[in-house]
Amino acid sequence: MKARWSLLLVVGLVSVLLALPAAALAQATGEVEIFSWWAGDEGPALEAIIAEFEKRNPGVRINNATVTGGAGVNAKAVLKTRMLGGDPPGTFQVHAGQELIGTWVIARRMEDLSFLFEEQGWYDVFPAGLISLLSTEDGVWSVPVNIHRSNVLWYVPENLERWGVSVPRTWDEFLAIAPTLQAKGVIPLSLGENWTATHLWENVALAVLGPEKWQQLWTGELPFTAPEAVAVWDLFGQILQYTNADAASLSWQQATDMVVNGEAAFNVMGDWAAGYMSTTLGLEPGKGFGWAPSPGTEGIFMMLSDSFGLPVGSPNREGVLEWLRWIGSREAQDIFNPLKGSISPRLDSDLSKYGPYAQSAARDWKTNTIVGSLAHGVVANELFMNDFATAMEIFLATRNSQAAANAAQAIAIQSGIGR
Ligand code: GAL
Repeated sequence: MKARWSLLLVVGLVSVLLALPAAALAQATGEVEIFSWWAGDEGPALEAIIAEFEKRNPGVRINNATVTGGAGVNAKAVLKTRMLGGDPPGTFQVHAGQELIGTWVIARRMEDLSFLFEEQGWYDVFPAGLISLLSTEDGVWSVPVNIHRSNVLWYVPENLERWGVSVPRTWDEFLAIAPTLQAKGVIPLSLGENWTATHLWENVALAVLGPEKWQQLWTGELPFTAPEAVAVWDLFGQILQYTNADAASLSWQQATDMVVNGEAAFNVMGDWAAGYMSTTLGLEPGKGFGWAPSPGTEGIFMMLSDSFGLPVGSPNREGVLEWLRWIGSREAQDIFNPLKGSISPRLDSDLSKYGPYAQSAARDWKTNTIVGSLAHGVVANELFMNDFATAMEIFLATRNSQAAANAAQAIAIQSGIGR
């Protein structure tokens, strides 16, 4: 009898313990601050995974700390003040590549997350090329949530038909149809604030230089003053003649709106525009909006990846780790990315959950030549980016290609490119 009782006790205890892990052992508590620029129109994807996380972790309160402004232009400035002032957020949005490594890792402000990659089996589910953008010899420094594509041309198929133009496959083709569009009162290419000009510039540079020389700019093998690199600014200047005069005051969403409203024919933007048009504006992919590789970049996928890391001194480290485990999971990524316009980098992502744009991006991601984005942190660090924004501002005002090329070369040297 006694033996039977103790057996029952053991069995009872074991089942209680087995039931515990999900409910108690992994239980994070307190506030977790997530710092990003995914506010307002850009918010739905992040908000969806926050809601799901909070359901699963009732003890945690998420502080969704956003600073609005595309490409993080405002958020990154606030982040810098906080990081340098000893007030790091719990976790923050940072692009894979030099924005992470050449800015925060080099300054020893991040914690190594290789233990988390081991624990979660992420070395096997994320592509090696992406992991190397997140790594140094000393560790892996953030968790990627997506792959976005920079080199996309957006348009409304019906409008192009009405105006009698087709999608340009090269910038020459664009320059040939632009006067026709202008004559009809249509802006050929919509543009927004400063960083969207850099975004357009990287697309033009990729078309002019091709993938190899584009990469060589970032290793220092091709100087910005080489004739072909100066030619990028010449073509960029020609294209700018066909953009809207009020670009400097528009957000990327407003530049996208111009295409949707039929004020403009085309816009070059990353595929968060697909997220905005389908999730926020409710347009049907393929009908309400169409897409193509930006002119001259067919077969090339200019990528970037949003990720979240663990800053040294992060408040509520355990809570943040639980958040990082969640955002790296297949489930979270397949909730987040279909809303965001991006694809999941996970090799086991369930593509049936994605719309037609993302499915086409996923095909290209597998088959195209992959290069990294400048405007979104892959190839250059924050030092380069900040000064390049100034060089861009000067070019937009003066249109002097040689001066811009000289400035870019000086900035490259100062920020350590090629060293
Ligand atoms: C990028 C970011 C995208 C999107 C975009 C517009 O830098 O990677 O996720 O937010 O800016 O703000």
